Amino acid sequence: MTRLTAAPAKIAVVGYGSIGRTVVERLLLGAVPDARLVAIVDQDPITNPPVPQVDLDEAVAASDVIVECAGQSVVVDHGEAILEAGRDLLISSAGALTDPDFAQRLRKTGPGRVLCTTGAIGGLDLLAAASDAAAFDTVTVRTTKKPAALVQPWMDAERAAEITGATLPMLVFEGDATQAARLFPRSLNVAAAVSFAVQDAHLVRVELVADPGADLTRHVISARGPMGRYEFQIENLPSADNPRTSGIVPFAVLRSLSTLLGRPGLIG
Ligand SMILES: NC(=O)c1ccc[n+]([C@@H]2O[C@H](COP(=O)([O-])OP(=O)(O)OC[C@H]3O[C@@H](n4cnc5c(N)ncnc54)[C@H](O)[C@@H]3O)[C@@H](O)[C@H]2O)c1
Repeated sequence: MTRLTAAPAKIAVVGYGSIGRTVVERLLLGAVPDARLVAIVDQDPITNPPVPQVDLDEAVAASDVIVECAGQSVVVDHGEAILEAGRDLLISSAGALTDPDFAQRLRKTGPGRVLCTTGAIGGLDLLAAASDAAAFDTVTVRTTKKPAALVQPWMDAERAAEITGATLPMLVFEGDATQAARLFPRSLNVAAAVSFAVQDAHLVRVELVADPGADLTRHVISARGPMGRYEFQIENLPSADNPRTSGIVPFAVLRSLSTLLGRPGLIG
């Protein structure tokens, strides 16, 4: 949505968990000067919310920008309607974008605009530019986390115990980003964001490693193609209240919001 006046953009945050709380807190402190927080949406009741807790339809009616910090289902179930209502959508749950048909539909839907935060990693701008020039030959994302962060509800007790009991690094999953997003939805935002940047989820190989010694969450992104060879290693501290999320993510969301509002700073 293009704002024609200098009035601050009205922001609704969907999801008041480890990312959403920090985004809310910082917005209230004025972290994004052109943004005014007007509402919070969460499936659970919030005690003493700092701005009104409303449902998603009310949030869409009351805001210019919806900042999703909730989960893939919010993006998949409501993304197109939000954009059709003329609201911009900032996505944290990048895993929702590994379905190429859905991602393509979101790109084309409007008049609202969609932006996916860079989240826990960097280098996506370079990968996207190289991919615009020519398709990559190989792209790999190897993510290493504490074992407990990789246990999933669909695993049987034996598999879960094998992972949590690992004493050495253990390869838990190897496959493409589309499969990985289905099986490890909370851990695949990085691979999903890389897929979105290189415009091909099937090209991106994902390796997930459980490592009891991994105090930091490590992502090694390797890409080779006609424009060059790239390798990024990123190590993030897990968030204090949710070990599946890196503490940096809400700050990336706030930076993406600045970009969306046209105040990107010197490095966008
Ligand atoms: N892009 C990245 O690099 C990156 C990194 C970490 C997490 N994430 C994603 O961001 C999202 C939020 O992560 P988090 O760590 O804050 O999670 P969290 O579990 O701490 O918080 C999620 C909040 O959203 C609420 N919620 C969930 N589904 C909802 C729905 N349908 N409607 C309304 N509220 C709903 C929950 O009640 C909870 O309060 C997750 O999808 C996660 O996978 C992205």
